[in-house]
Amino acid sequence: MCGIVGYIGTKNCVPILLEGLKRLEYRGYDSAGIGIINSTECKVIKTKGKVSELEKLVNKENTVSSLGIGHTRWATHGEPSILNAHPHVNEDHTLFLIHNGIIENYASLKKGLQSQGYKFVSETDTEVLAHLIDRYLKLKNNLFQAVRYALNEVEGTYGIAVIYKNEPDKIIAAKKGSPLVIGVGKNENFIASDVNALIAHTSQVVYLEDGEIAEIFQDHFHAKTIADESIIKEIHEVDMSVDEITKGGYPHYMLKEIMEQSESLYNSMRGRLLLKEGISKLGGLQGYEDRIANSERIIISACGTSWHAGLVGEYMLEQYTGIPVEVEYASEFRYRHPVITPKDTVIFISQSGETADTLAAMKEAKKKGALCLGVCNVVGSSIARESQTGVYIHAGPEIGVASTKAFTSQLLVLALITLLIARRKNLNLPDGQEIIQELQTLTSKVETILKLNDVIEKIAGQYVNSKNFLYLGRGYNFPVALEGALKLKEISYIHAEGYPAAEMKHGPIALIDDNMPVVFIAMKDSVYEKVVSNIEEVKARKGRIIAIVNEDDNQIDKLVDHVIRIPKTIQMLQPILSVIPLQLLAYHIAVKKGLNVDQPRNLAKSVTVE
Ligand code: F6R
Repeated sequence: MCGIVGYIGTKNCVPILLEGLKRLEYRGYDSAGIGIINSTECKVIKTKGKVSELEKLVNKENTVSSLGIGHTRWATHGEPSILNAHPHVNEDHTLFLIHNGIIENYASLKKGLQSQGYKFVSETDTEVLAHLIDRYLKLKNNLFQAVRYALNEVEGTYGIAVIYKNEPDKIIAAKKGSPLVIGVGKNENFIASDVNALIAHTSQVVYLEDGEIAEIFQDHFHAKTIADESIIKEIHEVDMSVDEITKGGYPHYMLKEIMEQSESLYNSMRGRLLLKEGISKLGGLQGYEDRIANSERIIISACGTSWHAGLVGEYMLEQYTGIPVEVEYASEFRYRHPVITPKDTVIFISQSGETADTLAAMKEAKKKGALCLGVCNVVGSSIARESQTGVYIHAGPEIGVASTKAFTSQLLVLALITLLIARRKNLNLPDGQEIIQELQTLTSKVETILKLNDVIEKIAGQYVNSKNFLYLGRGYNFPVALEGALKLKEISYIHAEGYPAAEMKHGPIALIDDNMPVVFIAMKDSVYEKVVSNIEEVKARKGRIIAIVNEDDNQIDKLVDHVIRIPKTIQMLQPILSVIPLQLLAYHIAVKKGLNVDQPRNLAKSVTVE
């Protein structure tokens, strides 16, 4: 999704803005631009395509300024083009605006402005806001107030930064539904849509909340609500280093993030396992344990990969706690008038903590009195802040657009929540201790699987030209089949579908011939024999089979084309292991097709629009 960065201080902002935009590239975008104001000029430089292209243009101009804003745009209104790229400007080129989000009433605002003589050059909703602010500037002669008045007319979502030639000592920033943080430096301040863009300069940040607007100067800032009430903002210390957001010698972030899963899982469980008591310790849930355990129902709501994690969570929670669980796509949940009561606990899972649909679903559940529990990776993100209680997954920054290590850490945290609640219900001490002992063996088992990277790369080589894939699994491994298929389609652009293995005979079996690769997740669990029967059915129709099996399996290799053997663990935790070969398979197929795995086409890391 779009990215925002801004600087005001004593240094030249141009390299700072470019570097910030590069750190936001992972979010997905299709055009980029910067706007600077100094004592002699107001300049906007924009390009379609990558920040590296923008950098070439900027370098030709030799521009220097200590006030500037930069943006990466992910097209919503109007195709990716230089005209539609941000910053957008007022008619006399003195006011620059960058915007994340969507202005829903832009058409009516535009009509009103056109009737007053304003001319538009782009197809965007953002340009409307630039002119609207300009109109109020003419009335109020004060940038802060002009932005505030304009925003009061806007319906929709925004994270914005505005600079103006006649008030060159400030950036105005405002937020509603799109994340925005102020980075507080020494004699310099920053604005960004994501702390990654400013972490190289400062670890002190201020999170703007919905309906807040800030006036940011070189050496101080203040904030108000859009309704003009003064507010005091707290400064937070971010615990993240620049090393964590670099590739660390790997060719892609995605591979790095797959390869660091033993460490990320360790971090997700560190300090949270109490072996003697056979229980997990989750500080974020303290005081809410009984309310969760006594819930009449647990609903899990999320999108994409996080939704797949929610499906595994359903199996875990129902098996161990006996509480009925429902899993809902956040995008459906928010609009279908769901029946939610104060006796429900709703778990919202989101890596970024900024997904617009999940955030809106949370607001809906909150309104209806349910307990809202956030499971997020990004500390201080909107969902983390909006939820009443929650657990961070501590997977570390995930930059690759395709989620990998966040998924396994989400599963791990769901297992910890299950254990905590189950021990308050019927789970006895030895069974709780057994789960903890299994959790403690996970990281070394993950390392064993990661050593299969070369084997999986060779298998991937044989399927680069495939047009379709089926992924089949049962029980706990059905959501893994969905996740394997999603990973493949999003980065390799090969059509892939995940199904519960037994559902195959109700339709998808028609697709099977000697061109159809079928990936089976066939663990030695309670449904193993049934999955073997499904494998036989595919074999009988000459499908090409890749099977993920347990190390001690000696039954399946006779039936299939490729076997990937992974260590065994208890059923609840097996998806954490069985998904890793599927992540590697998708990665290698995409790389062999020459595709950009970290920034796949049309995708964004954090989907902050509906
Ligand atoms: C897939 C992927 C997406 C996200 C989805 C939700 O690899 O990354 O499907 O899982 O957009 O994002 P979060 O978890 O940030 O809410």
